[in-house]
Amino acid sequence: MRTVTLSAPDDIDAWRSAARALIADHVAPDRVVWQMGDAPADLFAEAPTAPPASSTGFRVPRAFLSLADDAALHRDPQRFALLYTLLWRLRDAPRLTDDHADPLVRRLEELAKAVRRDIHKMRAFLRFRSVEEPDGATRYVAWFEPGHHIVRANAAFFVNRFASMRWSILTPEISLHWNGAALTQGPGAARTDAPDGDPVEEVWTTYYASIFNPARVKVGAMLKEMPRKYWKNMPETALVPQLLATAQARESGMIATAQDRVDTDRVAAGGNVAAAWAALRDEAAGCTRCPLYRPATQTVFGEGPLDAPLMFVGEQPGDQEDLAGRPFVGPAGQVFDRAIADAGIERAAAYVTNAVKHFKFEPRGRRRIHAKPDAGEIDACRWWIEQERLLLRPRMTIALGATAARSLFGRAMTIGRERGRVQTLPDGGAAWITVHPSYLLRLPDPAAKEAEYAKFVEDLKGAQAAIAHV
Ligand code: URA
Repeated sequence: MRTVTLSAPDDIDAWRSAARALIADHVAPDRVVWQMGDAPADLFAEAPTAPPASSTGFRVPRAFLSLADDAALHRDPQRFALLYTLLWRLRDAPRLTDDHADPLVRRLEELAKAVRRDIHKMRAFLRFRSVEEPDGATRYVAWFEPGHHIVRANAAFFVNRFASMRWSILTPEISLHWNGAALTQGPGAARTDAPDGDPVEEVWTTYYASIFNPARVKVGAMLKEMPRKYWKNMPETALVPQLLATAQARESGMIATAQDRVDTDRVAAGGNVAAAWAALRDEAAGCTRCPLYRPATQTVFGEGPLDAPLMFVGEQPGDQEDLAGRPFVGPAGQVFDRAIADAGIERAAAYVTNAVKHFKFEPRGRRRIHAKPDAGEIDACRWWIEQERLLLRPRMTIALGATAARSLFGRAMTIGRERGRVQTLPDGGAAWITVHPSYLLRLPDPAAKEAEYAKFVEDLKGAQAAIAHV
């Protein structure tokens, strides 16, 4: 038997190097015991150094690597053994990860999905309170109870988003501390170590009150979206008793028959979503999350029906959009309009928005030349698109180009490789990647332009057809 001891429950790098060495040594899964310990990774008694991937003569499929990155963070004690079993089977069946009916693949996909959902919840539900430090500076402290071992994997997200603040995130197993320049890790904490009081983002209480719909209070659904353990951490949930107290009266006024209830429910829900969306748009109008707001004329927020099944996400407003305050109304918008019409999609029935809400440009004489948003600007703006998606819950989100894909997936995506098929977003939603319409405008060769346009239209048709299966 081989025993592999990983130093931490999220030590995916050590797992990978151990697994590679085991595969090279032809050690079958039932001959390996995976365990966790405080000791530094004593990976292998018998084969301490992992061979380079090439020397094993076995190329690990990319799909497995991304599945493993997520599933390895699950709380399930079997996760490393299950992953190794799948890796072992992939030697003879390299396309096994595509077989979603295979029980092992399915189980690991479920683990990965639960982890992605947990990562998303940490991003959406974490709230900072401010405390004064001995030197008089402000530190922002948040308490969070993750379901899985996601805290370190999520650290970069918070570093990027709150780069200039001092902050700490306390969790039962580990704490993270950022001082504006370096991230350090400390031991787990207790809930009582975190400050109480008002959250920094007070806007949340107003926002939450506006989206709270008493006719829709279904505890099961609410707990599913926001598990009870997060409630005490979230200031807006302090509003719930008060809102519920008036809910009964409001609800009974709204409900006549069971059928009415369905209709009223939808209408009421629509009303509240509309109010929340309007609050969000108004808040975005004053956004200063990154410096792009300074030279831009205005924030260009998304537009379209709030129950639209399709949400299109572009890169950023261009010159004309910046002046008009509406997305996709300039030259790229004309290509977009023509292509969606050719794909049988009505623009008026779709929600259209951008990953970055301010126009980034370089002045050249009297002209403003489009400049690509950088990763920091995309990350700073991601908050808005996440809120738009949370409110609208589109059946399918279509990323137009690399900036949109990076914003939605939180990492760089290769459009040529990933386009034209259903993808799963970090929050579990369905997405589809295709090119940006301005790519077509830039193609100099008319034949290539025509061919790429046809491919773009096919992608759009595919996205719409895929809705039936998600
Ligand atoms: N390009 C985009 O990505 N979005 C717009 O709104 C306009 C051009």
